[in-house]
Amino acid sequence: MEVVIVQDAKAGGELIAEAIADLLRRKPDALLGVATGSTPLPVYDALTAKVRAGAVDVSRARIAQLDEYVGLPAGHPESYRSTVLRQVVEPLGLSPDAFLGPDGTAEDVQAACEAYDRALAEAGGVDLQILGIGTDGHIGFNEPCSSLASRTRIKTLTEQTRIDNARFFDGDIDQVPHHVITQGIGTILEARHLVLLATGEGKADAVAATVEGPVAALVPASALQLHPHATVVVDEAAASKLKLADYFRHTYANKPSWQGL
Ligand code: PGA
Repeated sequence: MEVVIVQDAKAGGELIAEAIADLLRRKPDALLGVATGSTPLPVYDALTAKVRAGAVDVSRARIAQLDEYVGLPAGHPESYRSTVLRQVVEPLGLSPDAFLGPDGTAEDVQAACEAYDRALAEAGGVDLQILGIGTDGHIGFNEPCSSLASRTRIKTLTEQTRIDNARFFDGDIDQVPHHVITQGIGTILEARHLVLLATGEGKADAVAATVEGPVAALVPASALQLHPHATVVVDEAAASKLKLADYFRHTYANKPSWQGL
């Protein structure tokens, strides 16, 4: 696992956007796994700026969703489908046809989960998956004690995650669904490159447990330790509880520039 400590969220967004641009220059139809939440927004802003500046062509890129609420009506502005369309697909000028996601409105949720795992495999698998991290260490909506081998499935959100996400629902926790569909940890680990971005003091404990703690279902993001190409990008605040912070800084400062992320 590589840990890169950046000055702030903007620098993290720029670094990851450049890694995505590099990937798209090598593989123009790459499948990009995107995450929702506040953390990845600087990545999408930086990538959109590169597209507008003509630095990268995203016209053949494809986008895959990480997770989704169950039971929000189709087109609800806070469904993750609407969110990804608004924050990623539209600013990048992609067609909604370039977008894959699980159906959170399906009557048969289990079938929708299995169909999504199949669709990801048929699309050739995710090339680069952007991840955020919950204060409880979740990735996607794999809450603590999710199986490290899990596939896409329905999960029940913890109260903490519903409290964290109430800000997207007028601050009203009662509007936050209890259930979600999420790519499983096993599904996420199939992506060719995992890039987790964490910013702010509130993520420092989860980041330390992910990077320096044991691999444990209690900290779902610690599964990144099992992946052959995982990058954790953190700002100074989110890095503040890493014992090996100086080592990570030293390693990144001395990395050959051709190596990329
Ligand atoms: P956040 O969410 O980026 O809004 O903090 C992260 C997550 O819950 O995965």
